[in-house]
Amino acid sequence: MMKKSIPIRVLAIFLAIAMCLFCVTGCQEKEKSKTEKKKPISVSEKITDEDDPEDSELVESNPEESDGNDYTGNTYDTGDISECDEPPSEAGKTVTTTENVKFDGRTNPLSRGINLSSLEFDVEVGYDNWLFQGRIYDTIREKGFDHVRLPVDFFLYMGDAPDYKIDEEFLHKIDTIINIALRAGLKIVLDFHHFGELQTDCKGNKQKYYAMWEQLATHYCRYPSGLVFELLNEPGNLEAIQNGGPDVFTPAKIMEIQEQAIKIIRKTNPTRLIVHATCWNNGAAQLMDTEPLLPDDKNLIMSVHSYEPMEFTHQNADWNNDGIFYPTTDFTDDMKYPIELVFKMVEKYQNTYGRPVWIGEFGAVGSKAPAGARAKYAEFLVDTMKKTGCGWCWWEFRYGLYSVTKEEWMDEALIDALMK
Ligand code: BGC
Repeated sequence: MMKKSIPIRVLAIFLAIAMCLFCVTGCQEKEKSKTEKKKPISVSEKITDEDDPEDSELVESNPEESDGNDYTGNTYDTGDISECDEPPSEAGKTVTTTENVKFDGRTNPLSRGINLSSLEFDVEVGYDNWLFQGRIYDTIREKGFDHVRLPVDFFLYMGDAPDYKIDEEFLHKIDTIINIALRAGLKIVLDFHHFGELQTDCKGNKQKYYAMWEQLATHYCRYPSGLVFELLNEPGNLEAIQNGGPDVFTPAKIMEIQEQAIKIIRKTNPTRLIVHATCWNNGAAQLMDTEPLLPDDKNLIMSVHSYEPMEFTHQNADWNNDGIFYPTTDFTDDMKYPIELVFKMVEKYQNTYGRPVWIGEFGAVGSKAPAGARAKYAEFLVDTMKKTGCGWCWWEFRYGLYSVTKEEWMDEALIDALMK
């Protein structure tokens, strides 16, 4: 008996120790998997700064309920929002809701903005990344910007049919960024920035697209009106569709899925500002071919991208992936004409349909242009956009505009031109 009972006790002790160890390492593993994801992004290595994680100021807060107003100055009809998710609340933290902007069909509710690129790429962005640093957003606001645009490719973070569930951890990151921006007094445009399969297999992916907007709309329906949804970035983008696919985007398909997405969003967000694209690649040339979607909806705006002339805005870029780089060039007077043409079309569209146009992307990519050239370009663009009554959003924050490592604006002349 003795012989038998001793090994059982030993075994029991051994088992107990093993279980404790298992528990401890298991918990550590969980913690580790959270922190392991904090590796810095590598996307924009081409032209980016890296942050010192030590400097991070993590702000994980959540917004108060919607401010109860829409951009038309009317009171929200909140309707039945019982199906909406509660904002994942963290009591006690306040969020500055953005001021109401008079929206009279000419004044754009999005005035001066900056694109914050990263999350449209298939890379891990950890909470130690600059995107989560509150003071960056304060700096942007203090400089005079009123909004930021956050390009995100949600398709990279969704489960399978039929639910196509958006990954919770990823969505929490997006919540955090939105909350930080709103708290800094900025509006934030959540832009579905996707150059993938939706563009080449529309039929096979449109349910996923609708499921995405349904989830986002439900999740954010109580958020302040400073959160804006943008349905699609550059649908019909050449790079995205040039290899073809089973059901490649056409102008009609682009308009059809955007209209459907608006209807889905409107079920839970009756007055949230929604940005949609023209029927092709956010091009101005297509504006007059794009009859306004849902013309009675006063909280829709049209987004156009203006990179004219490419040889200036994309200098030093091999944009066609053919090994041919646009040479370095100054901004010259003859470059003004193609820009003026764009804004003539914008003006015509606004006058005809009364739907404001917002230039969701413009800018000179990178910082290799001769000194002062980007400022000249920006000055001309900003002036032209002012005359046309357009809001705008510069592409891009770190690409030669702001150093997140040094925490300083990199081109004072450029920033002055933008803020004029
Ligand atoms: C693309 C970026 C690009 C920019 C300027 C954006 O829509 O997503 O990758 O740098 O346009 O071409």
